Amino acid sequence: MENCFEKISESILEQEFSIIDNFLSEDLAAALLLEAQADYLAGEFDKAKIGKGIEKKRISEIRGDEVKWLQRDAATKAQLDFWNILDGIRAHLSEFFRIHLERSEHHFAIYPPGSFYTKHLDQFQGAANRIFSVILYLNPAWKKGDGGELRIYLPGDQHMDVEPLYNRLIIFKSDSVEHEVLLSHSHRTSLTGWIRRDKLIY
Ligand code: OGA
Ligand code: NI
Repeated sequence: MENCFEKISESILEQEFSIIDNFLSEDLAAALLLEAQADYLAGEFDKAKIGKGIEKKRISEIRGDEVKWLQRDAATKAQLDFWNILDGIRAHLSEFFRIHLERSEHHFAIYPPGSFYTKHLDQFQGAANRIFSVILYLNPAWKKGDGGELRIYLPGDQHMDVEPLYNRLIIFKSDSVEHEVLLSHSHRTSLTGWIRRDKLIY
């Protein structure tokens, strides 16, 4: 893991994002996927929202995923293990980039067939609290043609399509990396989150 932290920060410094394959142990990735699927089947996911106060009708034209936020005090063993690993990454990035990083937040996300998320930045206007976006993909059967690639936009009109492969983690700078989720033709599952600099206010 420690090695992996160095790789993450170096890569973010160089190119604003970092991709790590086989990020978690097999058991941990499998447990998280099972929990996401069980919660989805139990109807615990909600339609995702955007920023603040945008009309409901418009939202489906921007993003079609459904999400379930994790709560640390109600987290399962697997979710806590994941969160603890993210705490390590957060501490490392905080030290490396010399910025205060207070916490991370995470939600499971499922894109049903026919859904997508148009090009955007993860930092809301006027609220620069999300510093790094962190996405773990959980699609063991993903194959070319299933869609749902993450398209990240790079300097100089370049882009790169990241396949949402099982146990792949991507971290990128929330304020500068524009990205979109291409049309997904199958159910696309992830554990998506943000490393933030602000405190949680109840
Ligand atoms: C998001 C997002 C990308 C992905 O939730 O803001 O851009 O690959 N997700 O799931
Ligand atoms: Ni995003």
